Amino acid sequence: MPYPSSVTVVEVGPRDGFQSIQPWIDTETKVTVCRMLLDAGVPLLECTSFISPKAIPQMKDAQEVAQALLAQPGYRDRLYALVGNKKGVDRAADTGISQITMVISASPAHNQSNVNKLPAQSLEELCAAAQAYPDLHIKLDLATAFGCPFQGEVSMKEITFVLDGVVAAGIRDICLCDTIGVAMPEQVKGLFYALQTRYSQKDVLWSAHFHNTRGMAMANTLAAMEVGVQRFETAVAGLGGCPFAPGASGNMATEDLVYFLNEAGISSGIQLDRVLATAEYITGKVGCCRDSKINAVTAQKIFPRT
Ligand code: COA
Ligand code: ZN
Repeated sequence: MPYPSSVTVVEVGPRDGFQSIQPWIDTETKVTVCRMLLDAGVPLLECTSFISPKAIPQMKDAQEVAQALLAQPGYRDRLYALVGNKKGVDRAADTGISQITMVISASPAHNQSNVNKLPAQSLEELCAAAQAYPDLHIKLDLATAFGCPFQGEVSMKEITFVLDGVVAAGIRDICLCDTIGVAMPEQVKGLFYALQTRYSQKDVLWSAHFHNTRGMAMANTLAAMEVGVQRFETAVAGLGGCPFAPGASGNMATEDLVYFLNEAGISSGIQLDRVLATAEYITGKVGCCRDSKINAVTAQKIFPRT
């Protein structure tokens, strides 16, 4: 299959990126980064997570961040917030946000480490949330879909155990996450193909979320595009990593993906120079490293083609 003519980028830097940064990032800076990315044309953005502030203190201002963005006309339908349990769903819904991401790991060991529950218990909470908030759009982030830091390989049985339950609950927005950056392109194609086939009657909107821990995120992105995936979660400046997955590091950098999309003639609606400016702003402000190739090209980031 050829590459798609357009791709939807879901920016997760303000959630996946900021959650792994230790020094406090003030709320105003977080909101500014979200605005800069939305105004750069990022169509969808995960702005925060409603998880326990004891688990990740950096996310303790989730309500303030979400409310500041929701107050701005035109942003509401473009925002997601991540949750890990029913309490998080309630907190998110209270702000008036219309889209949430519930994270469940395919690997029982990582789910236990991340949200202190077995996948079956998380599924129960997701079903309860879907029933309690029928108007809330719920996306599933299936963490450790390609490998787990605790148990190694994750079986198809573990993956479909969660996905069968999620699809039965009516969820159709599903993202396969390579939480620790161990996926390989053939594995990516194989897993997406198997799941697209299994749920072919369900009209699922598939997306992918690759960490670049071993330098495979771009290759995996292209592999996913080859099997028809058109939606990718990336983080500005290549920030990111789950604090409850040992060895996890940054996401596929948004600017690297947008550079590729532009060069390949695939539309995303995102202005690369404005994403680069956001990466510059946040890394300067927070003092964190960038993990992106295009940002490391200093003078002429865009190669002029005739
Ligand atoms: N928001 C705020 N507080 C929450 C909460 C939420 N979503 N869920 C639980 N809490 C609070 C409880 O109120 C309780 O507070 P208390 O000690 O003051 O009474 C405390 O956290 C423990 O609650 P409990 O239900 O027993 O949770 P737990 O200890 O089993 O921890 C999670 C489970 C989900 C709260 C915790 O593991 C978590 O937030 N993990 C975050 C995972 C994450 O963000 N990973 C990165 C993204 S993939
Ligand atoms: Zn991630």
